[in-house]
Amino acid sequence: MLYFDGTLGSGGHAQAILRASSPAGRLIGVDWDEEALKVARIRLKEFGRRVIFVRDNFKNVGRFLKSLNVSSLDGALLDLGVSSEQLEQADRGFSFLSEARLDMRMDRRKKRSAFHLVNRLNASELERLIRQYGEEKWAKKIVKAIILRRTGGHPITTTTELAGIVNAAIPRTYRPKRIHPATRCFQALRIAVNDELGNLETFLREIVRFLTPGAKILIISFHSLEDRIVKRAFKSWAEGCECPPHLPKCVCGREKMLKILTRSPIIPSPEEVRENLRSRSAKLRVAERRLS
Ligand SMILES: C[S@@+](CC[C@H](N)C(=O)[O-])C[C@H]1O[C@@H](n2cnc3c(N)ncnc32)[C@H](O)[C@@H]1O
Repeated sequence: MLYFDGTLGSGGHAQAILRASSPAGRLIGVDWDEEALKVARIRLKEFGRRVIFVRDNFKNVGRFLKSLNVSSLDGALLDLGVSSEQLEQADRGFSFLSEARLDMRMDRRKKRSAFHLVNRLNASELERLIRQYGEEKWAKKIVKAIILRRTGGHPITTTTELAGIVNAAIPRTYRPKRIHPATRCFQALRIAVNDELGNLETFLREIVRFLTPGAKILIISFHSLEDRIVKRAFKSWAEGCECPPHLPKCVCGREKMLKILTRSPIIPSPEEVRENLRSRSAKLRVAERRLS
């Protein structure tokens, strides 16, 4: 059996998969963050040659599976977003809770960081980004405040500086109570810096042809924008034909490839949320490659 974990992180899921598929199950573990791979290599050392490590973006799955001579997988998993390690490592610039240079690149080989987006995009591009990826209704005011700070040649360089600007831009009575006022803005920047939605869409287009009949695909997402993409992609692979309804017969030839196993996503139990607060917004969707 050969499994695929496209978001290896520190290898927690991979370790469970390798243990459950012992002694012969193998796993391709992918992460684009060199530091995550370092941790995973140590954690998964006991499994020796049963694990193949790949440093790449999971959206390139077609390309790297070809170079590994792999044409079929018995299961595939994505556990999206940033890891706790990335969030907690202050110098990665993901968190508004500690002072760091605005960065947010999960793959540090990338050129564009959050600093570039905040300081180089024009007002309308920045507003669209914050509104669309952060679902932030105060985007216009926030961008106005950012532009005001930028003019006069004062770039916004740190996480806490940006968080302060966002906080001050939202009228006091409308500031969210349950989350930090900068949460949505930071989410938007992180999604854009890492092209998170584009990567997910490409992956979901590519991966299905590698799944062997009966193989399962599991995606854990952490916000509604991602969950919507997963739900739509599964639905479209489950329905097959995409021809407009007025055509008398199918001309697209697209087969029904997946069977959806979770009509509604699986969410964590209250006990799990108590143990791991970050799991509170997780949604797991599962589908299975059809037998024919
Ligand atoms: C939530 S963590 C995964 C944690 C992992 N399941 C574990 O058990 O430790 C997400 C990981 O996916 C990686 N990641 C996110 N998007 C990626 C992408 N497009 N390509 C490759 N790795 C990605 C991040 O660098 C991070 O290490």
